[in-house]
Amino acid sequence: MDWLVLPEEFRNRYDLALVVNFGGQYAHLIARRLREQGVYTEIVSYDTVTAEHVERSGARLLVLSGGPSSVYSPNAPIMDSGVLDTGIPVLGICYGHQLIASLLGGRVERGRGEYGRTLVKLVERDPLFEGWGSEEEVWMSHADYVAEPPPGFRVLAVSENGYIAAMRHEEKPIYGVQFHPEVRHTPKGDVLLRNYAYRVAGVSRTWKAEKLVETLVSEIRRAVGGEDKVLVAVSGGVDSTVTAVLVRRAVGDRLVAVFVDHGLLREGEAEEVVEALRSLGIELVHVDARERFLSKLMGVEDCEERRRIIGEEFARIFREIVERDPEIKWLAQGTTYPDIIESGAVKGADRIKSHHNVAGLPAWLGLRVLEPIKYFYKDEVRRIAEALGVPKNIVYRHPFPGPGLAVRVMGKLTLEKLEVARRASRIVEEELARAGLYRSVWQAFAAVGDDRWVGVKGDQRSVGYVVTIRIVESEDAMTADWARVPYEVLDRISRRITSEIPQVTMVTYAVTTKPPSTIEPC
Ligand code: XMP
Repeated sequence: MDWLVLPEEFRNRYDLALVVNFGGQYAHLIARRLREQGVYTEIVSYDTVTAEHVERSGARLLVLSGGPSSVYSPNAPIMDSGVLDTGIPVLGICYGHQLIASLLGGRVERGRGEYGRTLVKLVERDPLFEGWGSEEEVWMSHADYVAEPPPGFRVLAVSENGYIAAMRHEEKPIYGVQFHPEVRHTPKGDVLLRNYAYRVAGVSRTWKAEKLVETLVSEIRRAVGGEDKVLVAVSGGVDSTVTAVLVRRAVGDRLVAVFVDHGLLREGEAEEVVEALRSLGIELVHVDARERFLSKLMGVEDCEERRRIIGEEFARIFREIVERDPEIKWLAQGTTYPDIIESGAVKGADRIKSHHNVAGLPAWLGLRVLEPIKYFYKDEVRRIAEALGVPKNIVYRHPFPGPGLAVRVMGKLTLEKLEVARRASRIVEEELARAGLYRSVWQAFAAVGDDRWVGVKGDQRSVGYVVTIRIVESEDAMTADWARVPYEVLDRISRRITSEIPQVTMVTYAVTTKPPSTIEPC
């Protein structure tokens, strides 16, 4: 059944959970939390879910996600209500909770709204709340509420504002919670999800990504056979590195691992990557294409245009490699689970920036595609990387966009601005590492544009660049918050940048979340 990502023969070893996605950002978070609890979880779109699908998938439990709609709005996402009759446990969260109420004959109304930290009181004990006190803090984000539960439902918890915070069916394992157990602001959220999986749904066959390594290797070996070569584009990130290591284990020196230096990398990155891969027994084909890329990019103002140029040039380089070596028949890519979901399975996901990845390449090159890590979230890929012995500087390296520094320079691309961004970013990374904060943030870098600030150096007035520091916390890059880095660290970063990069006269710190902003400046 290509409705799910993990092939049936793998899936049969684990108890499966399905998160039904009703839009918004919550589905991945729920899936990741369940996986952290050892439950193999996939995301499916509400409009593809039928009772029959769910039964055939062998799912042990379902979670209905939150979403931005109201169950009464004309285009509200509604799921086949037969799913609630399958006998498979269902937990509705926020919108999912309201949807259960409305599908089964309860009443949903618009209320005063509850946002942020809220207290709830348990009014009846239930296995779902094992380990919860009689009053606990939870995270709410809703305007609609369940005014009347459906027939046969009991209220398990109420909020401090008097709204139903949790309900369950008297006999069937159907639950609804108005709050979000998947967010960290609900301190006992993990306990609830664990109770749901293990106490309510009886999950017993647990999932651990790193235990799949041998299976993945034999899957690659079986797919590729005994003759063909496999091309992997290594970027220095953990995804492509893990992909290369798995392929190497599967096909030995029939792996052709290519590292393209487009001149837009972080300082020292090329050397580090070559060295790290060598320590794993992989000799990289190191293509120094700096001149090729930069000559085409200089002066280009629009970042989307830069992305297009970079994508095209990458494709040309790979075509040359494949033409020179006709034994290359496969391209292995480091596509991860969220990439797979965003590329189609989830309806209405907007493309905000045309992210370059190698997805367009295979058809162009006439190669068959391997995506050995498409089942995993980033934290799972990192655990696999550790199990494979990938050096820590690669395992925990921050994600870096394919077009590199080209999306961190605003206005016309010039060598000078590129150099400013590169050197300033290095300082940001070094200072974060020195403060022991590098691993706790998602990304950290410096960006530069055409804004100028007058400075005084010595007795001289000088006009220099404004450099913006962006340090964000995130779980998946879909949403992000600016990191509350201590002032002293920001101060050190600012002092070092202005003294070590003489063209810079002002350092600013970006304090806008995503949304409404994005992580990269362009
Ligand atoms: P934004 O800036 O859209 O970025 O919030 C979300 C995540 O994607 C990365 N990013 C890219 N990655 N090619 C990539 O491979 C790109 O063109 C690109 N643009 C942004 C960004 O670094 C962040 O992790």
